Amino acid sequence: MLPPRSAFPPGFLFGTATSAYQIEGHAAGGAGATHWDTFAATPGNVAGAADGARACDHYHRWPEDLDLVAGAGFDLYRFSTSWARVLPEGRGAVNPEGLDFYDRLVDGMLARGLKPALTLYHWELPAALADLGGWANRDVALWFAEFAALIGQRLGDRVYSVAPVNEPWCAGWLSHFLGAHAPGLRDIRAAARAMHHLALGHGLAIGALRAAGVGNLGAVCNFEQVFPADASPEAAAAAARHDAIMNRFFAGAMLQGRYPAAALEGLAPHLPRGWQEDLATIAAPLDWFGINYYTCKRIAPAAGPWPGYAEVPGPLPKTALGWEIAPEGLEALLLWLARELTGPLPLIVTENGMAAPDATPAPGQALTDADRIAYHAAHLEACRRAIAAGVPLAGYVAWSLLDNYEWAEGYAARFGLVHVDFESLQRTPKASYAAFRQALEG
Ligand code: FCB
Repeated sequence: MLPPRSAFPPGFLFGTATSAYQIEGHAAGGAGATHWDTFAATPGNVAGAADGARACDHYHRWPEDLDLVAGAGFDLYRFSTSWARVLPEGRGAVNPEGLDFYDRLVDGMLARGLKPALTLYHWELPAALADLGGWANRDVALWFAEFAALIGQRLGDRVYSVAPVNEPWCAGWLSHFLGAHAPGLRDIRAAARAMHHLALGHGLAIGALRAAGVGNLGAVCNFEQVFPADASPEAAAAAARHDAIMNRFFAGAMLQGRYPAAALEGLAPHLPRGWQEDLATIAAPLDWFGINYYTCKRIAPAAGPWPGYAEVPGPLPKTALGWEIAPEGLEALLLWLARELTGPLPLIVTENGMAAPDATPAPGQALTDADRIAYHAAHLEACRRAIAAGVPLAGYVAWSLLDNYEWAEGYAARFGLVHVDFESLQRTPKASYAAFRQALEG
């Protein structure tokens, strides 16, 4: 059972989230190629070499999908705009069909009483900008601010909130140092530069949105609870390095105007000249701060150059992706953020959910995903404890409305409250969807 709406403070917002490339079907509507199309087309990067060309065909089925969001009683829908759908080359000529699509989508949310919570960039960089070096190129941050201004002018009068970049750690470190996401680089110089330019793009976009008269601006970063793998000082230092790169790099820059020393010790030599001068732009004031939370990590020292650490498996029960289920970590991170970084700023859990081994439902039968209900329930209880301890938590957004394109995992990992048959594209609400509907009534 999920805790009911009445167990949260009045006005607490419940939402569900998706992102453009993961659901829309990128081949439709005149969108330009993205670096995820090329990453997926390169052998060995994505399970089944799957891409987002069709995905959930949300581009055509969005009214049904918004009906599902509203039908569960959610207050808010977190979605994203695809840069390459709006600007197929990343800059220059606009694809009017793309802008019109987001216009209709936002109007469709308002018509259903949903608050549109917009993310400008959820990872599908236009391939034309990847050709120019992608986020490792400082100009991409400037072009991103132009994209932000364009979207702000078109949608800014109707959206509830805007965040420029989803999970800059993933777009930066995971994609340019670990090589797990597009563009699939394993290069510390590219990683350091991409991370800095993502932070700069965030700050410049906040400025461009404010200049366009758009309010309720925030950020969405991902966090993990970090444990040293053992009691040794070496493990403690390794865990501190992971914590600095993962949890403190972007939040520190955005909220305090500085990068943490334990990250700079390895990244500083690779940052672009004059990076310090961008920190004031990056730390532009925000109206709220979003935390995406899924799991905890155990970190051990490892041989080799900086940062010299590796993840080791832990003992907790795991999701279908092998991620440990650690709801206490969400509570701990909310308390830490409010105490050390965000103070009175409203926090929102902008993503939380699990990949479950969902069997295909029999015709006419609901899919019983009791494990997913238990996951959301435990994390909502963690939110309640954080609120009781004084954290100004304003909302909780479940990832995800639909089973969708789970990046390097392709279509195999299912996070949805609604099952999607990727042959017929039929949507079937799972038991977790019904659990939210029931909780949100009460
Ligand atoms: C987050 C992403 C989201 C989805 C979930 C499972 O890192 O923001 O797109 O992939 O993980």
